[in-house]
Amino acid sequence: MSNHSQNEFEFRLLTEDDLEVAVAFVHKNYTLKEPLRQMITKDVEQCIGIDKKRVVEKLRDNASIGVFNESGKMIASGFCGLNTRAQKSLCCHGDHSSVQWFRYISTLVETLEGSLMDELNTDKFLMLSMLAVDPDYQRRGIAKELVKRSEDIARKLPCEYMVVNASSFYTQKCFENMGYVKLKSVDYEGYFDPALNVVPKPPHLSCVVYYKKL
Ligand SMILES: CC(C)(COP(=O)(O)OP(=O)(O)OC[C@H]1O[C@@H](n2cnc3c(N)ncnc32)[C@H](O)[C@@H]1OP(=O)(O)O)[C@@H](O)C(=O)NCCC(=O)NCCS
Repeated sequence: MSNHSQNEFEFRLLTEDDLEVAVAFVHKNYTLKEPLRQMITKDVEQCIGIDKKRVVEKLRDNASIGVFNESGKMIASGFCGLNTRAQKSLCCHGDHSSVQWFRYISTLVETLEGSLMDELNTDKFLMLSMLAVDPDYQRRGIAKELVKRSEDIARKLPCEYMVVNASSFYTQKCFENMGYVKLKSVDYEGYFDPALNVVPKPPHLSCVVYYKKL
């Protein structure tokens, strides 16, 4: 681990030009770390295809942040999608519905995120997802700074609420410390995927949806 402070890094909006780098970053530092998504890794090409679809979808809203080190290497990400009545920036459903793990994830995401607009009684909110920091740069406040900057973007849009779905108890603790309120959760401790023999492990034992009024 180096001794950089987060001020030395460049935080900037991601554009379509960052697509390939962002997909590779998400795949390595988020998808392979998050247990429900680890199930996808059985078929690497399909997994990267899904990562790419999610990243492309988020980049369209021009609200996702990448963090780069002094050599220009991407070291962190926070992808934000705008959710309105007309456009829901949720998990990409549909084309993989025959795959068992994907059905499970889709059901889980739908349970957690399907009716947020009504539950928050709003027409628009910004949802932060795929928050990840390269292991060499963790524990120095980069995730927290990404969350703060995402909130600034949400305020400017303007959105009344920031919403996050935290699947690690590190991020759950982080969001609670930053004033986020728990809305609902799904506990997947003990969930066993019969197709791939995968069991979620700490720190990923539940998904919690939090919101913050901005
Ligand atoms: C979770 C993750 C994004 C945190 O990034 P980070 O830059 O290291 O986080 P920060 O330094 O900004 O810390 C933010 C808060 O998270 C919590 N936290 C982060 N890492 C932690 C750890 N290893 N143990 C305990 N708490 C931790 C702390 O509450 C911390 O605040 P504090 O330092 O004031 O106590 C990073 O560990 C990661 O990329 N993990 C793999 C992908 C992932 O799980 N993403 C989240 C899915 S929702």
